[in-house]
Amino acid sequence: MVILITGGAGYIGSHAVVEFLLAGHDVVVLDNLCNSSQISIERIKKITGIMPKFLVGDIRDHQLLDQIFSRYAIDAVVHFAGLKAVGESVKDPLNYFENNVNGSITLLQAMKKANVFNLVFSSSATVYGEPKNMPISEECPTGVPTNPYGRSKLMVEQILKDTAASDPRWSVALLRYFNPIGAHSSGFIGEDPNGPPNNLLPYISQVAIGKLQELSVYGDDYPTKDGTGIRDYIHVVDLAKGHVAALKYITSRSDIHVWNLGTGVGYSVLEMIKAFEHNSGIKIPYRIVQRRLGDIAECWSNPSKALNDLNWKAELGLSEMIKDTWNWQSNNPNGYQD
Ligand code: NAD
Ligand code: WQD
Repeated sequence: MVILITGGAGYIGSHAVVEFLLAGHDVVVLDNLCNSSQISIERIKKITGIMPKFLVGDIRDHQLLDQIFSRYAIDAVVHFAGLKAVGESVKDPLNYFENNVNGSITLLQAMKKANVFNLVFSSSATVYGEPKNMPISEECPTGVPTNPYGRSKLMVEQILKDTAASDPRWSVALLRYFNPIGAHSSGFIGEDPNGPPNNLLPYISQVAIGKLQELSVYGDDYPTKDGTGIRDYIHVVDLAKGHVAALKYITSRSDIHVWNLGTGVGYSVLEMIKAFEHNSGIKIPYRIVQRRLGDIAECWSNPSKALNDLNWKAELGLSEMIKDTWNWQSNNPNGYQD
């Protein structure tokens, strides 16, 4: 198949491009590089031996999308492009809704015009809000995400549900990611945050490399095993493979389908620090500070629907997640700027 991958130069997108290429698909990447580097595309070639077609451009550009759909015989779209920084979304919600919601609408309009109806969308466990019971399965009702970023994901999910209901030609996968971490085992591609990282693993790895002094642990008074927040961390390569499996499933069926992509196992912040120290041999200085506004105590998935439907499950464990994060960080201390 010929697949348009929006946001394919970014963290998860670049790993997905690798897996789609390795699965034998042709890939066209569209990315405006607002949070990524074109070097990731060259690195994809180093890993796969294949150079994906790469276009610098914006998903909100109607004309460009029309040109892309008329120039390439696109069969499906895998849609990663979007802004994802929670704190930034609180400061500038309009920019988040404009990019994530309007951008998705523009993309859907262009797809419909071009008669392309297969879509895999990057959603997030954040759409569950603050669920009462763990683990979270897909039947769990969506909640109220605690920030504009999360609400933009839920809005796009709702738009996609209405769109799929309006026309049986649509085949849509909503993939709700838990906490993606890790990097490709080659060390050629990985997460390269702009400025100080917001997420736990990138922060820990920048402490380990000496760019940041110490980790702030946001609260140790949650009702969890050691008082710190619990999350379901998933290796980005497993996550990327989930997209290949989801696309295969939807191309032979119409309608909209939802899958959690997680491991089903939760680790606390203190367990993550210990695991990082164990797998890298580096001590991580940390300090317990106040809870971070909007954080929930715990969040982990029931991933069995993806196993039943897609025959997909996460294969890589915590030590691989950490070793690969550290391999990427230590080989590329300044990310793609090295
Ligand atoms: P990322 O920022 O590394 O990748 C997103 C890519 O989209 C970037 O390369 C960016 O340049 C591009 N982009 C943004 N707006 C664009 C636009 N208007 N037009 C074209 N390109 C645009 O982020 P990521 O971690 O790889 O996340 C990918 C997707 O997965 C996002 O939609 C994100 O919301 C979602 N997601 C991420 C996580 C996570 O923890 N990383 C969790 C759940 C869901
Ligand atoms: C994990 C745990 C923190 C940083 C966010 C988004 C979510 C999704 C994934 C896109 C929590 C603790 C963190 C630090 C810490 N993104 N922590 N010190 O909050 O589960 O999810 O990223 O969809 O929408 O909200 O991930 O990595 O930020 O935090 O103690 O410096 O680590 O409190 O318990 P989170 P995270």
